Amino acid sequence: MAKFIITGGEKLHGEITIPGAKNAALPMLAAALLTDEPCEFTNVPAITDIVVMLELLKHMGVSVEHDTANNTVRVQRNNFTPTIDPFLAKKLRASILLLGPLVALTESCTLPFPGGCILGKRPLDPHFRVAASFGYDTISYPEHFSVERTKKKYNGSRIFLPEAGVTVTENTLMIASMHEHETIICNAAAEPHVENLAEMLSLMGATIDGAGTNTIIVRGKEKLHGCSVRIIPDQIEAGTWAVAAAITRGDLLIHDVVPEHLDSILLKLREVGVTYDFINTEGHYALHIPERTRNSLKAVNITTNLWPGFPTDMQAPFVVLMTQAHGSSLIHDWMYERRLFYTDKLITMGANITLCDPHRAIVYGPTALKGRELESPDLRAGVALVLAGLVAEGTTIIDHIELVDRGYENLEKRLTTLGANIKRSE
Ligand code: EPU
Repeated sequence: MAKFIITGGEKLHGEITIPGAKNAALPMLAAALLTDEPCEFTNVPAITDIVVMLELLKHMGVSVEHDTANNTVRVQRNNFTPTIDPFLAKKLRASILLLGPLVALTESCTLPFPGGCILGKRPLDPHFRVAASFGYDTISYPEHFSVERTKKKYNGSRIFLPEAGVTVTENTLMIASMHEHETIICNAAAEPHVENLAEMLSLMGATIDGAGTNTIIVRGKEKLHGCSVRIIPDQIEAGTWAVAAAITRGDLLIHDVVPEHLDSILLKLREVGVTYDFINTEGHYALHIPERTRNSLKAVNITTNLWPGFPTDMQAPFVVLMTQAHGSSLIHDWMYERRLFYTDKLITMGANITLCDPHRAIVYGPTALKGRELESPDLRAGVALVLAGLVAEGTTIIDHIELVDRGYENLEKRLTTLGANIKRSE
């Protein structure tokens, strides 16, 4: 297992560019299965989840050209086989996004249960209910599930999703895009990455109205076409760098952001006392976090929510920020049952945090953090530990950083160019 070795205390200064969003790129790569024509993607992030998704596609008979120097990917479905490598599928939650294309393309298929961060139960029932709406029955086994078409005709329907989940909305969009009858998706997720997928499916030939809202209306096509599409910048990366600047009292210019994707994160940063401005260069936005003149940060309460609320994926970085703020912050993350458990690692670093129950923690600040030897429990908690290491006194060693590589591009190299003292040890 690889480790990060961080010596804290350095302010971050300089410029950084935000790569494409992991949670946009993953469903869009899966959607390339819906056509036998080539699909080209630009602004693809250089993270290991993408490498795994591309491997999964290769195993299914898709040709893949990955130009890592230019962050572009070209894929084309050639000799399609609906088989999913269970070892690869277990490496990421997003392998569930292959369910949509498989239901759209086959009469029956078998999928391994997905892996990914252990954040809670993360039930698949909503996905199975969507498959049922399109006429497919699902049977679960210990390691996999099978899906089989039992109703021959789909005449369109109004599908009310049991929860406004991101991947379940994306699977529904993909299946509906291959049906000519109208599908109305109610209680859909409205995140920008869902909208990015809808944009791709529209370029492929589907007619989609309402993406970015909770009701999406899809009229698909029996044959979809290839397309060329850009992955939107990663709003969670942008938020993480903004927190990194604020917490180290640095000065960062964060290039390639979409201001309206950052509303809920910036609202909280403003409440905390962090100032910022946007620089617009011919339609390209950069977020500037200037060096903090105010000495103290102010504690704020956070409740994670669905879009456009505060994203659960930003909860852990914000908790670290709150360890440096004056006062007490109530953090409420209702989505996952295990997403606050990493706080015990911050406590070993000196943070004063009470875990009230699996969904709520109170952070009392400010506290001086001390370097410790820790393990990254998952992607977002892992990056939060890196942020803690940047402000901790002494040396912090974080093991299992492969989990951080899943979603953050070349983290130690980029931090080093900004002045951090961080090394990777393999
Ligand atoms: N949930 C609800 N009500 C809702 C929506 C969700 O209770 O209206 C619950 C679910 O039951 C589940 C949890 O919230 O326990 C999240 O749902 P799920 O695990 O199905 O989410 P997902 O669609 O698989 C995507 C992202 C996650 C991100 C969540 C929430 C991808 C590939 N993954 O997961 O990303 O945390 O949405 O925004 O898009 C990450 O990038 O680190 C990550 C975990």
